[in-house]
Amino acid sequence: MKLWGGRFETGPSEIFERFSGSLDFDRKLVFADIEGSRAFANALARAGIVSAAERDRLLQAFDEIGREARDAHYFDGATDEDVHTFVIRKLGEKAGTLAGKIHTGRSRNEQVSLDTRLYLRTAADALLRGLTELMSALLDLAGKYPDAVIPGYTHLRRAQAVLWPHYLLAYFEMFSRDFERVEQARARANVLPLGSGALAGSGFPFDRHAIAKDLKFPAITRNSMDVSGDRDFALDFLYSSSLVMLHLSRLSEDWILYSSEEFEWMSLGDGVTSGSSLMPQKKNPDSLELIRGKTGRVFGALTSLFVTMKGLPMTYNRDMQEDKEPLFEAFEQTLSSLSMATVVAQSVTLHPAKPAAAAEDSWVVATDLAEELARSGTAFHRAHQIVGQLVLESVKSGKKPSQWTGAELAAFAPEFKPEMARLLNPVEGMKSRALEGGTAPAAVARALDEARTRLKALV
Ligand code: ARG
Repeated sequence: MKLWGGRFETGPSEIFERFSGSLDFDRKLVFADIEGSRAFANALARAGIVSAAERDRLLQAFDEIGREARDAHYFDGATDEDVHTFVIRKLGEKAGTLAGKIHTGRSRNEQVSLDTRLYLRTAADALLRGLTELMSALLDLAGKYPDAVIPGYTHLRRAQAVLWPHYLLAYFEMFSRDFERVEQARARANVLPLGSGALAGSGFPFDRHAIAKDLKFPAITRNSMDVSGDRDFALDFLYSSSLVMLHLSRLSEDWILYSSEEFEWMSLGDGVTSGSSLMPQKKNPDSLELIRGKTGRVFGALTSLFVTMKGLPMTYNRDMQEDKEPLFEAFEQTLSSLSMATVVAQSVTLHPAKPAAAAEDSWVVATDLAEELARSGTAFHRAHQIVGQLVLESVKSGKKPSQWTGAELAAFAPEFKPEMARLLNPVEGMKSRALEGGTAPAAVARALDEARTRLKALV
């Protein structure tokens, strides 16, 4: 079936029909299309274009289509141009010639914007749920090892000791900003476009605010050309999904490293790892590698729509039909990656002795010593130099921080007091980082409590 044709002497070529058809993918909008069309049937009745009885017949037909569309085979063999055409053909089968009135004053250009917005609202809600589940798993994992010490890295070189919960709370912060971004993307999509016509506005007296209320949109769009020409709400969604994936990818990379034989800080559960067909000993972190890999696909989706949109003249152009596959793809990959990461986090066993030893064996305490010298009156530049020399001497002689005594420190440089040797233990130095946002145990315990409270407010 086609929603146009009068102006044509011959039908479309088979190749063009296959080339331009979108039903194969935009069928995912079927429930959104039905929801939007129900609201439009109400609008037609309010505007006096259909009677109350006709409206009821339309609504009943849409309900039936909605029930039938739950069957996975509903679309088998359908050759309609797109999901909107498909739904109207079904409407015709159920409501006869009355179906011909459903497009009075409505264009597919606004309809596709409406359907995509409805789809994105639901998609955003699913991502928000996925994010809070992951954030909750991270807090649980932090709470399981409240005192574990790990070396924090810069340049992937051991830098300063931090608490394990402090490290996890860093990701908690990233995901909580992602939560805000997804919420914002939802808010941008959450505006009613209906009543815009093809590009110039509708010629029928629809009450756009009443339609908005019907569909739970808090606002209506202000310009009809903007509606047919714009997809920035979709780009907002793709961007916020991309950042979720970016953060997931970096978490994955960390844990792939930390669970390797080189680090041995943690084990991933058997349920989220896989073996090798050849090498019997292998336990591979495929779940995390796939999250990292899928991140590229989601970035690709964002780039794809950016490029699709960049040169389009106002307003609607068929190019815009190419927005859907990247959107669906980004949503589905991001949601499944969030659930995967949550299950991985729930499966992690930390072996705290390993990272603690990594911290103790290296000079992550160097900054603590230099700062203590500065607190006792040595200029920081000088303190830095003294400790640098201490490290050089230790590296040359193969001496670990814990092997220095207070007396030896004091002999090494007069600025050292023997009691400063306590700072050779990373746990001691950490206590000095007590400002908000630092890794001192008391600050981290408070931050963990606050994170739990903040998370509760989000769910
Ligand atoms: N299927 C199209 C899309 O997704 C909507 C149809 C509008 N088509 C048109 N020729 N104006 O963008």
